[in-house]
Amino acid sequence: MGRRQDLEKRQALLAQFGRLIAAEKRLDNLLSIIAGEVRKILSADRCTVYLLDNYKGELWTKVASGGEDQILRLPLGRGVAGFVAKTGSAVNLRDGYRDSRFSYELDELTGYKTKSVLAIPLKGAEGRVLGVFEVLNKTKGAFTEEDEGLLRILATMAASFIENATLYDELRRSHLETIYRMALVAEFRDQKDTARHLRRMSRFAEILARGSGLGRDRAEDIRYAAPLHDVGKVAIPDSILLKPGALTPQEYEEMKKHTIYGSQMLANAESRLLRLAASIAVAHHERYDGTGYPYGLKGEKIPIEARIVSVADVFDALVSKRVYKGAWDIDEAMKYLSSQADKLFDPRVVDVLESRKNELVEALEEENRLLAQGEAFEARIHETEAQFLKHHLKT
Ligand code: C2E
Ligand code: SIN
Ligand code: SIN
Ligand code: FE
Repeated sequence: MGRRQDLEKRQALLAQFGRLIAAEKRLDNLLSIIAGEVRKILSADRCTVYLLDNYKGELWTKVASGGEDQILRLPLGRGVAGFVAKTGSAVNLRDGYRDSRFSYELDELTGYKTKSVLAIPLKGAEGRVLGVFEVLNKTKGAFTEEDEGLLRILATMAASFIENATLYDELRRSHLETIYRMALVAEFRDQKDTARHLRRMSRFAEILARGSGLGRDRAEDIRYAAPLHDVGKVAIPDSILLKPGALTPQEYEEMKKHTIYGSQMLANAESRLLRLAASIAVAHHERYDGTGYPYGLKGEKIPIEARIVSVADVFDALVSKRVYKGAWDIDEAMKYLSSQADKLFDPRVVDVLESRKNELVEALEEENRLLAQGEAFEARIHETEAQFLKHHLKT
């Protein structure tokens, strides 16, 4: 290819790179898009984007190993990437294993064999180091000075997007954590295994939402809003909430108000997730045939998120022990829910419950396993929040 065509091709790739990264605001997705594109543009076998965790003085990156994402952490100063982050200067090696700065950890973790390495600092608006761009194993020969220039351009283009996505991610996480903790407060008195119930039912809700044809983002929103469905129970007196036996009709009438209380607590929120939570809180005891509470809404008049959470909630309530009842086994619970399709529940959601039984049971078993492993603290916290705490708060 001539010089001119080469340039044109490169410009086209850069323009595409710019378009792709501008369109993604989720940090996770952004980083994998960047890694994929940079690999292509530099004819490298791999690209790793490390981000600097200022609080802990470490670089971290997500690596796929054995089908699962794992977080690799590298103390500042360790490895080529750690060196680059610390000194702010680039490193270009023909053979990583011949350089004392190279760290084998990542290769060991992934079973990959690194040869050539080009690493440059990723700098933010004020020249602050945000992380490191590293490309590995050029297809032919070693990385050139031209490659280094190109990688710098790509890093410069990516920097502000990464900075924004990081802020967005932090905001999202603290938002989710707050929501989850609100939900814990609400159910704290109610059940001893509150956190377990919330985790399980919100995972069920996500699975049912996916199976009902809602998109990934919408399903994830439902997962994170679902834990607040019973937040209104904070306003129900102990004498009713904790009563070991059956409720009197008057007590049950009082209990039913938890839906209204919940929607009042969440009403007119600015946040998308909280508005979704309000809709779930008020309508999660409506029934498909219109005999539910508080408003007796019928069929499609009940928002889909509430029809989904209703199935997830009752399914989990049945397979759990309560102060007023014992636990049912899974098949019994399934049979009951099927028998109530069209009456209590949206028949399509019940169909999903049946067709995704394996996935639901898997989620249930995973939650129980986590608990049995004695992860006392993390078990009380939503999986993702636990991850978040692990990465950002614990020292
Ligand atoms: P919850 O314990 O989270 O139960 C949620 C929903 O799961 C119930 O909504 C009901 O639809 C279903 N469910 C739970 N256990 C059973 C069961 O043994 N059989 C059947 N068929 N369905 C079950 P529901 O009935 O509107 O109750 C809302 C909340 O009111 C319950 O939340 C619980 O906190 C309270 N509650 C309901 N019944 C009693 C009771 O007999 N005694 C006490 N102390 N509380 C009750
Ligand atoms: C490093 O030393 O920066 C790790 C090199 C690699 O990614 O394999
Ligand atoms: C995610 O990105 O899906 C995890 C959300 C969280 O950080 O809690
Ligand atoms: Fe409820």
